[in-house]
Formats: sequence, C-alpha cells, structure tokens
Amino acid sequence: MKKNVNDFYKMKKEGKQVAWITAYDFPTASFAEQAGMDMLLVGDSLGMVVLGYKGTIPVTMEDCISHCQAVRRGAPNTWIIGDLPFGSYQLSDQQAVENAVRFLKEADVDCVKLEGGVRVKSRIKAITEAGILVMGHIGLTPQSSGVLGGFKAQGRDVESARKVIEDAIAVEEAGAFSLLVEAIPPILTRFLTKKLSIPVYSIGAGPADGQLIISGDMLGKFQAFTPKFVKKYANVAEVETNAFKEYISDVRNEKFPTDDYVYNALDSDEAFAKLFGEY
Ligand code: KIV
Repeated sequence: MKKNVNDFYKMKKEGKQVAWITAYDFPTASFAEQAGMDMLLVGDSLGMVVLGYKGTIPVTMEDCISHCQAVRRGAPNTWIIGDLPFGSYQLSDQQAVENAVRFLKEADVDCVKLEGGVRVKSRIKAITEAGILVMGHIGLTPQSSGVLGGFKAQGRDVESARKVIEDAIAVEEAGAFSLLVEAIPPILTRFLTKKLSIPVYSIGAGPADGQLIISGDMLGKFQAFTPKFVKKYANVAEVETNAFKEYISDVRNEKFPTDDYVYNALDSDEAFAKLFGEY
C-alpha cells in the first residue's frame, strides 16, 4: 500500500528506517516499487545521470516534469518527490509556489524538494501554506556547488556545523515535513535527527531516519565519478557494455539472427518463388 506523510512520521517515532533511491524512468521506478522501496526522488541529478550534463544547473522544469510523469507511471503506489530545479524557485515565493503546483498537477508527485535552509525559509513557508508538502535539503546542495567550492562535504568543523544546524532549524520552522541532509559528518546528522521532530534523511551523512542513494551510483551506471559514500550494489555499466559487445560480435560474424529469432513465412517456398517471379 502507498505510504503517506503520517506513515513517515510514525516510522521516525518507531525508529523504522526509510529506504529510498532516485529514479528517473519508467523501468527503474517499476523495479523499485516491486522491490518495496519506501520513496522515490526524481532528482535534478537526472541532468548528470541520464542527460549527460556536468552538473544540475541546466535542468529545466520540463525535464523534471517529464521524468516525474514516467516515474509515476512506473510506480503508481510509491511516494514520489519532485525536485525543484535551479531557476524554478530562486526568483520569488510566488515562482516557487507556481512551480511546486505544476509538479502536483502535471506529474502527480506527493511532495517537492528544494535546496537551502535559512535563505529559502520564505519559499518553504509559501509552498507549505499553498497546501503542498515540502522536503528540505541542506548540507552539500549540488545546485550551489559553485558557491560551496565544488561537491564538498559540509559542516565538518564547528563553525560550518553551526550554519548547517541553523539551516535545519529554519527548514523545520518553515513547515517542511522532512529534511534531507547531504554529505555532513555523522555526529552532526545524529544531533539533527534527535533535535528535529520531522524525519531527517541522509545521503552520504551516516545514520538518520532513512537513507537515500542515487540509483545511477548504486547500480554502477554513472561513470563520471563515485562519491566516497556510495556503496555499489551492481555493475550495470559492465553488464550493458558486455551485452553490447557480444551483440556487435554476433552481428559482424553473422551469428545473429538465427532461425530462432525470425518470423517464418506461412506459405511454401514455391509459393514465394512464384510471387518473386512476378517481379
Ligand atoms: O537531485 C538529486 O538527486 C538530489 C540528491 C543529490 C539529494 O537532490
């Protein structure tokens, strides 16, 4: 059965872990649902993982909506998070609400996620007041990797940990129903998980109320780099490349297609010879 927001609060209360991954397409979403995944994030990481960009900045609302629609078709009974891409909430609270509304109306997601803490407090509040559930995202926020000096872990010293704590409090105060913390030290994640009453989920930040991992990383599909916190559960790149190599070799050596892979004619060779003779 599809989970709802109360299930996630209950899971935090009962100390039950939430397992979730990113998904961008119909097959991954449907395999994840069959496997029993608690949530799916259609992250703007799709820019890097499936569209081949170097970062997430070029990703548009249209990209996100279209991938959310595919994921919803693949996972009709799973909680789906739509990720507000760069440029879709930076201008004003009104722009943030308009784009959050698009995610719900056009892609049937269950909530939206946006990056930032103190600086996006009014955006989170505005979206929440419009009746839309929001997940916050702080720590390493890929959309501001330029400002952070790259894809770097955050909150590793006391001064920058203070900033992460203030961001987390701002997200909760603004009305978000949950918070994702990325690439911060486990000591800080532990503190935030206890301190906040909303569920705190982690990607590369150690134990919390649940774990997110990028599907392209855990499946071994994303090749550009692998963050330290990624555990690989498969090597799909190797499986696919080997299958393609074998196919190329079969075609070049005329081993494919054999008789097993064709639709044989229903009439006799003679009947076909007669037909060909007419031309
Ligand atoms: O876009 C995404 O997949 C994300 C994760 C990196 C947390 O926001």
